[in-house]
Amino acid sequence: MNRPVAAIVLAAGKGTRMKSDLHKVLHPIAGRSMLLHLVDSIAALDPARTVVVTGAGREQVEAAVAPLGIATALQAEQLGTGHAVAQAEAALAGFDGDVLILYGDVPLVSTTTMRAMLDRLAAPDAPAIVVLGFRPSDAGVYGRIIAHDGVIEKMVEYKDATDAERAVDLCNSGLMAVRSEDLFALLARVGNDNAAGEYYLPDIVMLAAADGRRSAVIKTSAGEVAGVNSRAELAAVEADWQVQRRVRAMAEGATLIAPETVWFAHDTQIGRDVVIEPNVFFGPGVTIADGVVIHAFSHIEGARIGAKAEVGPFARLRPGAVMGEASKIGNFVEMKKAVLGAGAKASHLTYLGDAEVGEGANIGAGTITCNYDGFFKYKTVIGAGAFIGSNSALVAPVTIGAGATVGAGSVITADVDPDALALARARQEARPGWGKRFRDVMAAKKAKP
Ligand code: UD1
Ligand code: CA
Repeated sequence: MNRPVAAIVLAAGKGTRMKSDLHKVLHPIAGRSMLLHLVDSIAALDPARTVVVTGAGREQVEAAVAPLGIATALQAEQLGTGHAVAQAEAALAGFDGDVLILYGDVPLVSTTTMRAMLDRLAAPDAPAIVVLGFRPSDAGVYGRIIAHDGVIEKMVEYKDATDAERAVDLCNSGLMAVRSEDLFALLARVGNDNAAGEYYLPDIVMLAAADGRRSAVIKTSAGEVAGVNSRAELAAVEADWQVQRRVRAMAEGATLIAPETVWFAHDTQIGRDVVIEPNVFFGPGVTIADGVVIHAFSHIEGARIGAKAEVGPFARLRPGAVMGEASKIGNFVEMKKAVLGAGAKASHLTYLGDAEVGEGANIGAGTITCNYDGFFKYKTVIGAGAFIGSNSALVAPVTIGAGATVGAGSVITADVDPDALALARARQEARPGWGKRFRDVMAAKKAKP
């Protein structure tokens, strides 16, 4: 039986180096905020409680987590990581179990690693605290972990460390697992007599040691505990996430011709035997069924793409775009809140907005659904098997019946009956000999001095 789990997520830091009006932890990775990435990985542990410690910009963070029923605790003044964790005590009152301490700006820690920390805490030697360590290529100013065989001798902040301690390359990610009954009792004993004048969370390891209790370190990759303090670090974490996602897409049966040029969102769903050509961007909310081909330079968000459909090159699918089986959206076609029936095609230069296109319909090059009058949006309905001639404007609200044909260049303002032909353009006139007469008159004019 696993003990109950609670998570404390530190997010009181100002994030000054982001130079942003948006709170640091709300900046997105793959179209979802760092904080929600973390909350999602925590949720997989089925935690009894999650508490986010807020400070500067707390309203934004509170608004982001309130819909998820996640509690927040305010750290009015930033007096250090130990002080920050202590602020969660009231929110965890009555909770008896294991506590994970995480950072809102370290978003990619996996559920597997969280579980490994909890498992280590539950191991027979019963460490007081489990610290997540890592060996970065440049240890910089990270806190150091002095350990032997996974048992911690000392935790020391860079500012307080000796040269010999600074030479140690095992670093503190800041993430820990501690039993609730130990955590707040130890925190109450943490002082701020150190180089930074802060209440250091890692000091709880030293206080437990003073009680004769050992703590353990487990290691993970530097990439997993990469923190975000600047836009450049945000981009680095995004890049890392994308690399992993591309590998997964390929492992699950998608062909990515140039994987490094394809950008997924956190929730992109991809079937098997999907081919994605170079330079394709996915925003949130995209589902791609089996056998779909997405040609180069397409931008896709909030769209559902049916089996064996074809998209692009240079297509734009906006929220509410739904493509039926074996349907086709070609180059320079935009879809928004539009449903394309099975086998229907819009191959070139078209806008389908607030539209419903029946099965097998053919939308000619340059067709535009005129869905907006500057105030309201209106719907266009195109029946199954209809044929819309090139360069037609369909002025919504309007319905084109099944099997109807619209002549090229029409401006359709009234409904068209099924199987009818609609022509809405000026009739062509022919004037025999006009070209020659025109040239003769002009030539004569030019010859006059
Ligand atoms: C901390 C660790 C250090 C570790 C490093 C990893 C301490 C004393 N040091 O460094 O050993 O190598 O993380 O990045 O714990 N925060 C608050 N309130 C505060 C202070 C911090 O919520 O008063 C939050 C920040 O928003 C951030 C996290 O805690 O998410 C870490 O803060 P930061 O200042 O980056 O870490 P350090 O304390 O310098
Ligand atoms: Ca940091």
